[in-house]
Amino acid sequence: MGFDLIVRGGTLPDGRVADIGIKGETITAIEPKLDAETGTVIDATGNLVSPPFVDPHFHMDATLSYGLPRINASGTLLEGIELWGELKPLLTHEAVKQRALAYCDWAVSMGLLAIRTHVDVCDDRLLAVEALLEVKQEVAPYIDLQLVAFPQDGFYRSPTARANTIRALDKGVEIVGGIPHFERTMADGTRSVTELCEIAATRGLMVDMHCDETDDPNSRHVEQLAYEAQRLGLQGRVTGSHLTSMHSMDNYYVSKLLPLIAEANLSVIPNPLINIMLQGRHDSFPKRRGLTRVKEMQALGIRVGWGQDCVLDPWYSLGTADMLDVAFMGLHVAQMSSPADMAKCFDMVTNVNAAIMGLGHLGLEVGKRASLVVLDAGNPIEAIRLRPERLCVIARGKVVAERERRETKLAISGRPAMVNRRHVPPSRPA
Ligand code: FE2
Repeated sequence: MGFDLIVRGGTLPDGRVADIGIKGETITAIEPKLDAETGTVIDATGNLVSPPFVDPHFHMDATLSYGLPRINASGTLLEGIELWGELKPLLTHEAVKQRALAYCDWAVSMGLLAIRTHVDVCDDRLLAVEALLEVKQEVAPYIDLQLVAFPQDGFYRSPTARANTIRALDKGVEIVGGIPHFERTMADGTRSVTELCEIAATRGLMVDMHCDETDDPNSRHVEQLAYEAQRLGLQGRVTGSHLTSMHSMDNYYVSKLLPLIAEANLSVIPNPLINIMLQGRHDSFPKRRGLTRVKEMQALGIRVGWGQDCVLDPWYSLGTADMLDVAFMGLHVAQMSSPADMAKCFDMVTNVNAAIMGLGHLGLEVGKRASLVVLDAGNPIEAIRLRPERLCVIARGKVVAERERRETKLAISGRPAMVNRRHVPPSRPA
C-alpha cells in the first residue's frame, strides 16, 4: 500500500511503538513496520506521537487583549467582566480577527488543532461573532473551531442579550451558551437555563454553559442544567463549564447531584489555570481551590475534560496555548498524582476533550483524520512533566509546524556538555 506520509517508529500514548501510514487526509495504517516505497518519512523514533490537543473551552474574542484598556487589579471574575465591558465598545472587527488569527498560529505550533470558543453576543454589533465566523473558515484546513453564543452580561440581565443570542445562532454560531450565576437572581438564573436549553432543543444544537463559576455553594444551576438535559432529550449534548461552586457544596447535596449529572450524560469542563487564579478571592484563610470535584465525577463515569479558558485577556495575564500547561495545573489542583490519574490528564486534553466536542474524526486510529503531534517526550506522563517541544504537527495529512529539538550547552566545567531533561529509568537497581 502506498502512503503520502509515514510517521516512523514513534511511541503511542498506550505504549505501542509503531509506524503510522497516511494517505491524503486519513490514517490508513498503524503497524509495527511499514514499507515506505513512496512519500515522505518523518522519523519519530523515541518520541511520543499523540492525537492533537483539543481545547473545549476558550474565549477567542478576548484573547491577546491583556492590558486593554487596563489590567484587572482585583484579579476577580467580576472585575474581569467589568473590564471586558470597558473594552467591548472599543473593539474593531479587524483587531478581533487579527488577535484570533495570531492565537491560532500559537495553537498550531503547540499541536492544538481543535478549539471550542465562546463568543460574547452582548454587543449589539455582533462584531466578534462575525470576525470569529470568518476566522473559523480561514483556519478550517488545520483547526476545528466551534463557536458558542455566549451572553456574557446575562441572558436576562443584559436587555438585548436574548435577541442577540438568537441573531448569533441565525448567523451560524452552532452552540448555545449561558451564564446563569451572573443573572440578577437565582430564579432568573434557573429560568435562563431552561429557556436556553429549549432554544437548543428546538434548533437541534448542543449546549455549553458557564455554570456556577462562583465560590457560593448555593449556586446550583448545574442541577437545572442536568434536569433540562433529561426533560428535553438533550442527553450527551450538554456541557457544564467550570462548576466551581461544587467545590464548596455540602457533601450530602453533592451525593445527590452527581448521579443526576451522570444520568443526564452531561459533560464537564473545569478550567484549572483560570479558576485557581480567580476563585477564593473573597476568602481569608484557608482559601478554597477553584476547582470542581474532578475525580469524584470521573469515578461515576461522568466525562470530564480540561479547558484552557483564557490566554492574555481581562481574566488571565498568562497563557501559551499549551494544553499541557492546563493538564499540569489540573493534575496538581485535583491531586491526580497516581500514574493512572496522570496518564488520564493527558487523555483529557486529547481524546476526552475531542469527545466532548463531538469530534469523532480525531484520534490515533486507522480511518481517522491524519492529525497528530510528535512530542519530545517518551510517554504521556513525561509530556505533562516536561511540556516539551512539539517537534512536528500534522493536520489533515500535511505538516503544519516543525521545530528543532533544543538542548542546553552547559558552561560549567566538568559537567556534561548537553542536558536532556528526559528521564530514562535505570535498568537495574543502583
Ligand atoms: Fe469561560
